[in-house]
Amino acid sequence: MRIVAAKDYNDMSRKAANIVAGQIFLKPNSVIGLATGSTPLMMYKELIRMSAEDGLDFSEATTFNLDEYIGLSTDNINSYHYYMYNNLFNHVNIKKENIFIPNGMTSDIEKECMDYEEKIRQRGGIDLQVLGIGNNGHIGFNEPDVKFEATTHQVKLDQETILANARFFDNIDDVPKYAISMGIKTIMHARKIVLLASGLNKAESLGRALYGGITPEVPASILQLHQDVTVVIDGECASFLKRMGDDTIE
Ligand code: GLP
Repeated sequence: MRIVAAKDYNDMSRKAANIVAGQIFLKPNSVIGLATGSTPLMMYKELIRMSAEDGLDFSEATTFNLDEYIGLSTDNINSYHYYMYNNLFNHVNIKKENIFIPNGMTSDIEKECMDYEEKIRQRGGIDLQVLGIGNNGHIGFNEPDVKFEATTHQVKLDQETILANARFFDNIDDVPKYAISMGIKTIMHARKIVLLASGLNKAESLGRALYGGITPEVPASILQLHQDVTVVIDGECASFLKRMGDDTIE
């Protein structure tokens, strides 16, 4: 695992965008796993800039998003469909047929989850998965649990996650209680992973994930077992992890 310290949020976003862009430059038909939330927002802006100014070409790339709320339509501003089109897809030359996000409006969740896994398999698996991390150590919407959930599945969101994500909604009661998320095995099968974290809250959950025991209570801790993870963090996170004794941070 490489931990790369950036100066600040903007620098973290640029470094992460370079990793995604590098992947697409090297393998134009890459399959990229994407995350939502506030952390990768600036990374997406930078990718849009690179596509406009540096010739970054998404035309052969495929994307699979980590998760989606159950019950929000694609035009709901809080759906991850809306987020992704608004913050990336509408501004780059990716083909619509190469964009995959779980369908949170499906009437058959079990089938949707199985089909999502099958689509990832058919596209040859994920080359590079982008991740954020929740305050409770979740990745995608894999919440702390007594076991690691393997494949794409329905999740009941933790109260902590509902509270954390309430900032995007008018009313906390509007935050969906359920989501569809890639599983831990789906994520761990990605050939490369890049995890972004910024700010002190994230530093604490990252510290637990990187240096604590590997446990489903801290879902991101499983990443300790992955062969090719790059963690890109801002200065605040880096100082925190250094205080925890990590002298390997680049
Ligand atoms: C959300 C998403 C995750 C994301 C995390 C952190 O609930 N499902 O994929 O990484 O929580 O979000 P943020 O970057 O807004 O802190």
